[in-house]
Amino acid sequence: MSGLLAGKVALVTGANTGIGRVTARRLAEEGAHVILACRSRDKSEAALAEVQAAAGPGKADFLALDLSSLAAVRSAAAEWLARDLPLHVLVNNAGLAGQRGVTKDGFELHFGVNHLGPMLFTNLLLERLQQSGPARVVMVSSKMHERVTGIDYEAVRRPTRSVTGVAEYGVSKLANIYFAKELARRAGPTVHTYALHPGVVASDIWRRVPQPFRWIMTRNMVDVETGAETSVYCATSPAVADDTGLYYQRAKVRAPAPLAEDRSAAEDCWRRSEAFIAEASA
Ligand SMILES: NC(=O)c1ccc[n+]([C@@H]2O[C@H](COP(=O)([O-])OP(=O)(O)OC[C@H]3O[C@@H](n4cnc5c(N)ncnc54)[C@H](OP(=O)(O)O)[C@@H]3O)[C@@H](O)[C@H]2O)c1
Repeated sequence: MSGLLAGKVALVTGANTGIGRVTARRLAEEGAHVILACRSRDKSEAALAEVQAAAGPGKADFLALDLSSLAAVRSAAAEWLARDLPLHVLVNNAGLAGQRGVTKDGFELHFGVNHLGPMLFTNLLLERLQQSGPARVVMVSSKMHERVTGIDYEAVRRPTRSVTGVAEYGVSKLANIYFAKELARRAGPTVHTYALHPGVVASDIWRRVPQPFRWIMTRNMVDVETGAETSVYCATSPAVADDTGLYYQRAKVRAPAPLAEDRSAAEDCWRRSEAFIAEASA
């Protein structure tokens, strides 16, 4: 612990469990005031206590955030802004995989929760990030983005089509990289962005896989402490302070899939996502 975030404020989504919980605790250990933005206060109590113990008195807070509803995302952002704190680090960690359905606004579940919700949340906080700069936005993406061939903007407006949801998950994680790259171009010099693959991690993300398959599947995966390393690196390391719009794995810059480097596809994703959000909010 070297106090890299002393005097800074960091917000981690999905911090009640898994990679997000460890990330929140590690940012607190670096001296940050940490906000755990999660959908259930009850489910966040243990993580909150853990982060509080690491952060010190008055430096760990809860924010209710449900990414499956754009109205709820707006409420969370408004509630956060009303607290009148600066924001130096935003880790968009929350996500789901392998589920099926639609969000409250009718978008495919992975696309809505993993991409549209975080995009709206980040954009609503952008001015505060800019005012607080230098600031970092970290998008927890996934190597699974390599498995897809693009984003079908009709399919993301319908319920999950694949049986496993894996294809839709990959699409949402490609959108995370596009968002990080496009935000890097739009946010101005004081806000830097980072997208990453955390590794294949034995977290609650596999909760729907029945036992004993879950145990067999997860026993060779890395643990959540290791899984949080690249998020913490991107959020704190002086070595990447000048980077923006890049993709990381094992705390190193990596090339994402060629498709993820397509600038016009990233611009298109931003434009269409903004239109979806505007349409759903009208
Ligand atoms: N585990 C892996 O191998 C792996 C690999 C690549 C990328 N990732 C990415 O890493 C990130 C963290 O995943 P994890 O492995 O730590 O999974 P996890 O243990 O399942 O944690 C996911 C977090 O996201 C939250 N979340 C889910 N739906 C939400 C919603 N509608 N609104 C707000 N929060 C919501 C969950 O809250 P609840 O507890 O309330 O459900 C939980 O806090 C995800 O973005 C995932 O895609 C994971």
